[in-house]
Amino acid sequence: MSRTPQAIASVIGGTSEPSDAGRAYRSVNPSRLAETVAEVTLASADTFARACRVASDAQRAWADVPPPVRGRAIATIGRLIEANAEALARIVTAEIGKPYAEALGEVREIVDTCDFFLGEGRRLYGQTVPSEMPDKNLFTFRNPVGTVAIVTAGNFPVAVPSWYIVPALLAGNTVVWKPAEYAAASAQAFFELFVRGGGLPAGALNIVHADGPATFSGLESALQAGTVDKIGFTGSSAVGTRIGELAGRHLQSACLELGGKNPMVVCPDADLDLAVEGALFAGFGTAGQRCTSLGTVIVHESVHSEFLRRFDAATRAAVVGDPTGEVLFGPMMDQKFADSYEKYLGWIAPHHAIRGSTGTGRITASNPREGFTGDAEAGLYYHPVIVDGVRPDDELFMNETFGPIVGVTTYTDLGEAIELGNKPGYGLSSAIYTNDPKSVFTFRRGISAGMVSVNNSTSGAEAHLPFGGNGKSGNGSRQSGIWVLDQMTRWQSMNWDYSGRLQKAQMDVAELVPDLDFRL
Ligand code: UN1
Repeated sequence: MSRTPQAIASVIGGTSEPSDAGRAYRSVNPSRLAETVAEVTLASADTFARACRVASDAQRAWADVPPPVRGRAIATIGRLIEANAEALARIVTAEIGKPYAEALGEVREIVDTCDFFLGEGRRLYGQTVPSEMPDKNLFTFRNPVGTVAIVTAGNFPVAVPSWYIVPALLAGNTVVWKPAEYAAASAQAFFELFVRGGGLPAGALNIVHADGPATFSGLESALQAGTVDKIGFTGSSAVGTRIGELAGRHLQSACLELGGKNPMVVCPDADLDLAVEGALFAGFGTAGQRCTSLGTVIVHESVHSEFLRRFDAATRAAVVGDPTGEVLFGPMMDQKFADSYEKYLGWIAPHHAIRGSTGTGRITASNPREGFTGDAEAGLYYHPVIVDGVRPDDELFMNETFGPIVGVTTYTDLGEAIELGNKPGYGLSSAIYTNDPKSVFTFRRGISAGMVSVNNSTSGAEAHLPFGGNGKSGNGSRQSGIWVLDQMTRWQSMNWDYSGRLQKAQMDVAELVPDLDFRL
């Protein structure tokens, strides 16, 4: 079914901005490149900065809405998303080629996030704290940070934005959101559902479609003007570094969720079939385009050949193709990811052994994939690749390779496996397959990752556990659950002295005299 392309423009303060700088972007269906999903008007840097000003002007009034009422808005957004789940998932599948079942799961992740935060409006707890002096009380309050600028990738075009936007709005912040250009239609649908479902006032949530350079320079002006108080960014480590620098110059700490080179350790006692199932989903699900996708399998030398045999067989048997059907993965999301993936394929060296498919590179009539479903030539489809024999000095071992490619290497003792897992310097997700508690806890302590799976895939984190990484994967910020509230609020402490005199802390404190010489 071919669709009429949707015309999409930024919405600032409730007003659509169809004729900005006039630069147009075409968001296409990566499984049928001839099909345009949306025609997008991209905004200029000035428009981005203006959106921040509008959001900043609207913030005080939004913060004055009582938190339980804001929580209710989140509740109704969740219900509207649920009622539109299939329609939203279909847009995601059409626009970025995510298999429909996964796209539905992604939509579920928004609902889960709303479900978690709807009650937070009635909590947002502060504390009452005892004072060291009489007739004085101490309190803490969570204040919204102000205006949050959120820049997101398109691999989770609706779930990951909800991780920022839901807690940001709930806590009384206003938002300017810049989604990925190649996921503009998914973003616009999400935006509509939020604004309508939440009954949000104009300016509380704004969407700006812009390219990277315009966003960066608009953000810089907004920071200078004092109209952005927090940045949330999900994307590459390279861009995250620049955003972190920019935020730092304005004494802000950005919430950064960056790349990963996520290791999976397979121990000698592992259930190999379970490990293969996990590696298949973690490595090739979403065509390897999750920040939590599997980078390298680090398998004990005693089970290496058997693991590889089964992993190869499972990968060959998996169905790749049209994402509207039941497939392990569909196309790359966009031409730019296909291009970078081709570069990563160039890192395959003579000492590597390739497994997993009937070819490598783009799936075409002359380079077919057995069992492929759909029209290979029409889309950005690639063979899954298992690269056995990767070594720590390989680029393939050290770098994130967004795409359907998984490295395999061996280890002798667990300490070595942990060292290999940490070597690339990322630290997002990780997995270990074993039933030995000592190995589990040794791995947990030693691995640098923010997230550890035991007998489970590196991807597929639940929406209410802290999500985030260390090293090249982020600056230690965490999203999801109660932990993200520390990104979206700032603590204010208050002391109230009702003694009627100045009581000096540390000085006017009653002293109890102990008898330290006492012995039984
Ligand atoms: C991402 O790829 O940016 O844990 C997020 C997972 C998903 C989220 C991935 N729930 O794989």
